[in-house]
This record gives sequence, C-alpha cells and structure tokens, in this order.
Amino acid sequence: MAPQTPDAVGGASRPVGPAGAGTLVIIPTYDERENLPSIVDRLRTSLHDVHVLVVDDNSPDGTGDLADALAAADDRIHVMHRTEKSGLGGAYLAGFAWALEREYAVIVEMDADGSHAPEQLARLLERINAGADLVIGSRYVPGGKLVNWPTRRKLLSQGANTYSRLALGVRVRDITAGYRAYRREVLEKIDLASVESAGYCFQIDLAWRTIQAGFSVAEVPITFTERAVGESKMSGEVVSEAFLKVAEWGWRHRMDKLRRRHH
Ligand code: GDD
Ligand code: MN
Repeated sequence: MAPQTPDAVGGASRPVGPAGAGTLVIIPTYDERENLPSIVDRLRTSLHDVHVLVVDDNSPDGTGDLADALAAADDRIHVMHRTEKSGLGGAYLAGFAWALEREYAVIVEMDADGSHAPEQLARLLERINAGADLVIGSRYVPGGKLVNWPTRRKLLSQGANTYSRLALGVRVRDITAGYRAYRREVLEKIDLASVESAGYCFQIDLAWRTIQAGFSVAEVPITFTERAVGESKMSGEVVSEAFLKVAEWGWRHRMDKLRRRHH
C-alpha cells in the first residue's frame, strides 16, 4: 500500500505533498460519537489527501461502528479497534505502529472533539516542510489562543508546562499539547516499545524523547477551543502520573549528566 504521491516521496526536504498527501492523521476516540463525523468532514474539506486513522477503545457509545461506516464510504479513512479503554498513550502507540508499517512521511495527532481545528493543520505541515522534525500546535506562543477553556483547566495546563520546563530544562511553551505533526524518522528512531505513559503525560514523554534524540521541535500558534459536546477524559490519575513521571525524567537526566562529567 503506497499512500504517497510522487510529490510526497520527493525527498526528506519536502515530506508533505499538496493537500496533505503522505500524511496520516491519528484520531484517538473514546465516546466521541457526536464529534467524529464533523471532525473528519472538516479535515477532508481542508486537506483533501490526508489519510485518517481512528483508534477507538471499544467506546460504549458506538463510536467504533460509526468510524467503520465512515471508513466504508472513504478509502482514505481507516479504523483500529482496541478491546478496552487503555489511555491516550496506548492508543497513539498502536496508531504509530500502524503508520510505520505503511509509507506515511508525516504522522499527526489530533483530538476528536473539535479542540484542534483541522483548518489549522496546514500551518503544522508547512513547518514540517520547512524542516522541523516535530511541530507542536501551541496555545502559548504569540498568536496562540484558548477559547472557552475553564479556568481550572487553564491553570492546570499552564502549571504543567511551567513544571515541565523547569524539571526537564526545555524551552517548549506547550509541551502537553495534543495537536502535533511528527516526521516519520522521529518515530522510527525513538524506542516506542519503552514508552509507558498511559495518560496525557504521553505528550510530554514523546516531546522529551524527541529532544533527547536530537531532533528539532517547532511551535506554531493554534486556537484551542473547548469541546461543545461530550466529556473530557482527564482525571486525577492522569495528573498524578504526569507529575511523578516528569520529576523522574528530569532527575534521571540530571544524574546522567553528572555521571558523564565524572567519568
Ligand atoms: N482511544 C482512546 N482511549 N482515546 C482517548 C482516551 C483513551 O483512553 N482518552 C482520551 N481519548 C481521546 C478523546 O476521545 C479525544 O479524542 C482525545 O483523546 C482528547 O481527549 P480529551 O479528554 O478531550 O482531552 P482534554 O480536552 O481533556 O485534553 C486535551 O488537552 C490536554 C492538555 O493539553 C488534549 O489535547 C490532550 O492531548 C492534552 O494533553
Ligand atoms: Mn478535549
């Protein structure tokens, strides 16, 4: 199976072809029945040639069946069914493996609930074409916006970013963001089998590994709009996992640096 046009295979300097050819957008879903059709439709309209992989964790609301129906009507849409809810990290890792078995040059992460505007994906892909290895759709660089996000979530998100910047010593403004584009080479090089993050700290984990592996990270401004329908899957467990893991990564990194200095 070769999803790429000749444009897309035209060399590392320009991995994305016109209208998004060579790109796979992975959309993890858990109870997103009311959101999925419009997000896929908007994506189709803004970038005609991107492929979509919906990774559904056997949603009780029937999102999986709905995704199958969308896929039956459009051969650029694919669906992966998993048996149980196992977190955002697990869904993306399964999606990455699927993508790497195929010839996609760029792999994108996008939420199903409308928080990430498909109309802004072109901005991310332009930066990939300009040479970035990972592009993050950022709420916290000039031009980035938050619409309808509750203050509680805003504080949590900004706290998590400040905490991560200090603990890890990185400059990324929105390291927890879930709207991203990876050049395939990044996901090939990172040891995905050793990623354990289940919840939203998966995003921090992958950005950190990308930086550690020597790849470049760029941020482009996006408008993040809180979902109008359905519920967030963020939980206390998700927050404490992130808090502990980030401290551990930062600590380990500093110990490694010290050790290297003494040998
Ligand atoms: N398959 C699967 N399994 N999908 C999941 C799971 C899961 O266990 N948990 C969440 N999702 C899907 C949702 O259905 C949605 O499409 C997407 O992942 C994001 O989930 P939300 O629950 O809507 O996330 P949020 O709005 O609270 O959080 C957003 O902001 C975070 C902080 O910046 C997301 O963009 C996160 O990725 C981001 O880390
Ligand atoms: Mn959301």
